[in-house]
Amino acid sequence: MPDQPLLDVTDLRVSFRTRRGRVTAVDGLSFSVAPGEVLGVVGESGSGKSVSMLAVLRLLTNPNVTVSGEVLFRGRDLLSLPDKQMRAIRGREIAMVFQDPMTALTPVYTVGWQIAEQIRAHEPVSRKEAHARAVELLSDVGIPDAASRVNAYPHEFSGGMRQRAVIAMALACSPALLIADEPTTALDVTIQAQILDLMRELNARGSAVVLITHDMGVVSEIADRVLVMYGGRVAEEGPRQAVFHVPRHPYTWGLLDSVPRVGGTRLRRLPTIAGVPVSPDSLPEGCAFAPRCRLRHERCDERPELSAAPGTPAHRDACRLPADDRTSLRLTARAAATGAAAAEHAGRASKAERADKADVEREAAP
Ligand SMILES: Nc1ncnc2c1ncn2[C@@H]1O[C@H](COP(=O)(O)OP(=O)(O)OP(=O)(O)O)[C@@H](O)[C@H]1O
Ligand code: SF4
Ligand SMILES: [Mg+2]
Repeated sequence: MPDQPLLDVTDLRVSFRTRRGRVTAVDGLSFSVAPGEVLGVVGESGSGKSVSMLAVLRLLTNPNVTVSGEVLFRGRDLLSLPDKQMRAIRGREIAMVFQDPMTALTPVYTVGWQIAEQIRAHEPVSRKEAHARAVELLSDVGIPDAASRVNAYPHEFSGGMRQRAVIAMALACSPALLIADEPTTALDVTIQAQILDLMRELNARGSAVVLITHDMGVVSEIADRVLVMYGGRVAEEGPRQAVFHVPRHPYTWGLLDSVPRVGGTRLRRLPTIAGVPVSPDSLPEGCAFAPRCRLRHERCDERPELSAAPGTPAHRDACRLPADDRTSLRLTARAAATGAAAAEHAGRASKAERADKADVEREAAP
């Protein structure tokens, strides 16, 4: 029997009241996370990744925001829990790591004090014991000379060290779920790899992880399942292998095709996804990706529901293309995108050539 989900989100909707009217940032999002699994969440900027996770954690406190849907965590609906119970869940059962570690750290207290308080909020240990654990945790996450750095303030840490301190806080409570939103984006590559290792370690100790990232390479390394978001909705979701090897949604094709393949047999010009991401104040009635989709047809004016790929119930996508012909359709779409990219490149190249020629002629003129 499959595991009961740890987190089960159904029909999550988030909208903001703005001067331009109401904008819908998350539009009927449903997904789940099993105990101990790593879910990679991908999608272009503005696709609603952060807003949806902030809504799950009840961290959208803006009075202009409206959140609806159901967010079951271990069977309890987080959206209707009293604040006190929600605070107890955050930090102890669900930990968070954001792109900017200063979101989680208070500038006026030492890093060690903050980690120790986190431990003491959830465990009946003395101040001294909590302090000793904080030193141990900082050392575990690779902070050199942890015994003295524990007394430093966040501004005395580098960005990578701060992020590690936040992860130490997450490790402190062995949460059932870690939600990490672009935790490595601001860091250099070596530190990125260390942070990912720490998340793997947390996962190996039994924590499930939701990892939001722009980096398809990271997702391909670390995720068990992948959720592809577009326009505040799920475009595709499924096991990592399935999404990477037999992706089904034209938006996922675009995301994958615009990533260079390391060790590929040949170089080819990488197409980008044409057009701009849909804005939450103008979501189409039908498929949100339609304005950018080369395979758009009249049925796309009706919003596609998520449906399973033939024979693979765990792999689902929201697209109105025929279910069994996606591979050849992908080739068609890729050829069109590559052709367009090549034409654009050629246009740019000949313009540059003309400019070079004009410069040479100018210089050669008496
Ligand atoms: N306070 C707000 N008021 C109005 N719109 C908002 C607000 N916060 C977010 N949005 C809108 O919600 C949409 C989703 O934003 P979100 O931050 O979730 O995107 P994202 O997928 O996390 O993008 P990125 O990859 O850039 O972090 C965006 O179009 C954003 O402009
Ligand atoms: S539903 Fe239509 S517009 Fe949307 S991705 Fe599929 S083919 Fe393209
Ligand atoms: Mg974000």
